[in-house]
Amino acid sequence: MSTFPSLEQLHALKPLQQPTYPDQAAVDAAVGRLRTAPPLVFAGECDELKDKIAAASRGEAFLLAGGDCAETFDGVTADNVRNKLRVLLQMAVVLTYAASVPVVKVGRLAGQYAKPRSADTETRDGVTLPAYRGDAVNGFEFTPESRIPDPQRLVEVYHASAATLNLVRAFVTGGYADLRQVHTWNTDFVRSSEFGQQYEQMAGEIERALTFMKAIGADPDEFHRVDFHSSHEALLLEYEHAMTRIDSRTDQPYNVSGHMVWIGERTRQIDGAHVEYFRHIRNPIGVKLGPTATADDALALAGRLNPGNEPGRLTFITRFGAERVREGLAPLVEKVTAEGVSVTWVSDPMHGNTFETSSGYKTRRFDDVLDEIQGFFDVHRSLGTVPGGMMVEMTGDDVTEIIGGGEAIDEAGLAHRYESVVDPRLNRVQSLELAFRVADMLRKA
Ligand code: PEP
Ligand code: CO
Repeated sequence: MSTFPSLEQLHALKPLQQPTYPDQAAVDAAVGRLRTAPPLVFAGECDELKDKIAAASRGEAFLLAGGDCAETFDGVTADNVRNKLRVLLQMAVVLTYAASVPVVKVGRLAGQYAKPRSADTETRDGVTLPAYRGDAVNGFEFTPESRIPDPQRLVEVYHASAATLNLVRAFVTGGYADLRQVHTWNTDFVRSSEFGQQYEQMAGEIERALTFMKAIGADPDEFHRVDFHSSHEALLLEYEHAMTRIDSRTDQPYNVSGHMVWIGERTRQIDGAHVEYFRHIRNPIGVKLGPTATADDALALAGRLNPGNEPGRLTFITRFGAERVREGLAPLVEKVTAEGVSVTWVSDPMHGNTFETSSGYKTRRFDDVLDEIQGFFDVHRSLGTVPGGMMVEMTGDDVTEIIGGGEAIDEAGLAHRYESVVDPRLNRVQSLELAFRVADMLRKA
């Protein structure tokens, strides 16, 4: 493998979706600070996740990734992190039962602070300012001061991620993730809502399975703690490059800011700076593939990013949209599989289904999200390939950002509690409903 590229070499490749910082000295100072910061994750943990994702590629595990479209610094509170984690754990229990394989739990958290945008600027009432690119870059507030990219925010991302990950690590090992407890939250959800009743049967089956385990005296460690991993889109090369360390065990570069990192739909150019950076790090990595991706694009990416064809190394996160997933995804999976390329297929049922309402809210329909996942399963089933997991944008709070679900949120209802600064998220109830509905799909798999 060629040597790890310098930041300057990456910049020579003209990376897309990077902020224009007004003060290079301030950028250098922030990068210098990050280069000496302790790792947030360890290379060995990344390797463990890679093995689990390899299992998902064989159908021996199922990947569940979830979290905000964009984390915010204000969102780093104990309540927010705990609520999100709780719902993810609840979803994971339901999916584990249905899939009868371990669910690999990955948060879009502790680092998901940078966003690609379709336009560089935003205009409101005749005033044009730089677009909001995530808290890693600038402020959401629509003022000239707030929208100027500030490299000190990169250091803040590090600290916010450290605080989040610290909480997550404490929760998942400190009794909070206890299986019985998580199951009790699920039965509360099923009982406390009218539409929850349709999930009562599955909740009852899980209850009996747990009671049986108790009766025979089985009380494995896994009942009391879970493995949880962090992930984010590695978009800002200043941050990601500065957070890369050579692992002393293997002498290989790892991104130590998150266990898994992915390349977004807008930055996956085969000769681009992101692919060049990613091909050198040893973490498990993802690439988003949208409707414009061809099978040849996928093959070229696999060749560049995983030349050794190592299982678990490369995940394709497909986001075609409910309407296009069946005809769009099939030829991709077919050709990649025919070439003997090892990838894990994960569905992102969110980003191909976004639209704006007449009142200006960015939203998605719950039914479209479900339909894309169904399409993803259908494609894999018909080809005899493995649907390895899903990645959703969700929160543990009762927000109103996505239309539909059992609570029947409608267009007018979005105004009630719309909090996302970028894309709409499934709320707590919609996330749980989704888990039960996907569980049904998995059982028929
Ligand atoms: C995202 O995952 O929030 C995102 C921006 O996705 P994509 O790159 O697929 O558009
Ligand atoms: Co998003």
